[in-house]
Amino acid sequence: MIGRLNHIGIATPSIEDSVAMYKDLMGATSATEKRAMPDQGVWVSFVDLPNSQIELIEPYGENSPIHAFLEKNPKGGQHHVCFEVPDIYVARDEMKAKGATVLGEPRIGAHGTLIIFIHPKNMGGVLVELMETPKEAH
Ligand code: CO
Repeated sequence: MIGRLNHIGIATPSIEDSVAMYKDLMGATSATEKRAMPDQGVWVSFVDLPNSQIELIEPYGENSPIHAFLEKNPKGGQHHVCFEVPDIYVARDEMKAKGATVLGEPRIGAHGTLIIFIHPKNMGGVLVELMETPKEAH
């Protein structure tokens, strides 16, 4: 069952520029250090909001899945939304049973908990990340 909105994923050609934009233009006060996630082909940084986070993702390496997105959207843009679920394997099985296309097997995401992605064709054109709720609430 769908839970809390955890974050909105936004692709960008430059995390530094995007963090500066959220701080200077929108008044955001905190963002996590940019770090590499080589397995997923992205650099990532989270901008903290009062009720959620913006996940900024920038291509890492030649085979990054973000390159194609940035070719279509050179300035970046909204890439996915992420909802929490209590158990990722239950969620995966439920999604499959309902006929949705689950992209890949559960794997560790940027928050250190298991994630899967649901194909946009099943979600009105929106790429949806499901993420197991972190054990420590934040
Ligand atoms: Co995400």
